[in-house]
Amino acid sequence: MRTGLTRGGREIHLDGEVYTHTLASLHLALKPASYFEIGTLHGATLRLATCPAVAVDPTFQLAAELVGGRPNWRLFETTSDAFFAEHDLKALLGGPVGLAFLDGMHQFDFLLRDFINTERACDGASVVLMHDGLPRDTAMTGAADATSASRFPGYWTGDVWKLIPILRRWRPDLAVAGLDAQPTGLIAVTDLDPDSRVLSDNYDAIIAEWTPVSLAAYGLDRLFDEAQVVPARDWRRRFGPEEAPNEPIGWKRRLRHLLPV
Ligand SMILES: C[S@@+](CC[C@H](N)C(=O)[O-])C[C@H]1O[C@@H](n2cnc3c(N)ncnc32)[C@H](O)[C@@H]1O
Repeated sequence: MRTGLTRGGREIHLDGEVYTHTLASLHLALKPASYFEIGTLHGATLRLATCPAVAVDPTFQLAAELVGGRPNWRLFETTSDAFFAEHDLKALLGGPVGLAFLDGMHQFDFLLRDFINTERACDGASVVLMHDGLPRDTAMTGAADATSASRFPGYWTGDVWKLIPILRRWRPDLAVAGLDAQPTGLIAVTDLDPDSRVLSDNYDAIIAEWTPVSLAAYGLDRLFDEAQVVPARDWRRRFGPEEAPNEPIGWKRRLRHLLPV
């Protein structure tokens, strides 16, 4: 299968559609009954939801017009750990998660907890997308203030890439795909099982094993081989052929240093 993926030594180029286009088209095709988001910032991804939604971020920076007229949206200005400690996500959504986008703290231990907690509110039809799982060089995975060594300074993916090998090893029952969405990929997970306790029961061992591992040591090529990257467009079309309109130009301008020339 052709993917928008080219490799050139220490850098990998993703040529798929922009991740917000994947999300926007997925909303149209999947028509999820509910949307859950961790990490909202300005709302570029939350604004794509037309269904009832729950969003969590300790520091929302939303435009006022985004939330007006959305009575079935609930925003929680707190960390995801505090949110899950205090709330029942499934009850808030009135049923299982339809579509989730996990894009909060870009540290793998945070994302692993976010995934574990989100899956408990899922069912077999839920779709979970996680952002930034396919870093394009190793410098973007280091300390947030060290990305100047990257060809993409200021763009910090953190080490959430570790979710790919972790889920492949511990949860072979899940369908996990790496999507070539620009700029730094998506991890798509389906066949979710809210009753599985494999990750939570082994959480401490997983954290101990993976905390010392760097992407430089693990290998960028090895990660992309394990991710089994597929075109985001093909993956989402299993849910329907609907296409969102193209992204506004402003968004592409903001990402221009990461998009193909
Ligand atoms: C990359 S931004 C999200 C961008 C947005 N999803 C988009 O695509 O435009 C990451 C967000 O995660 C939030 N965040 C950081 N730590 C968090 C935590 N512990 N729980 C939930 N959100 C967190 C930050 O405040 C920030 O707004």
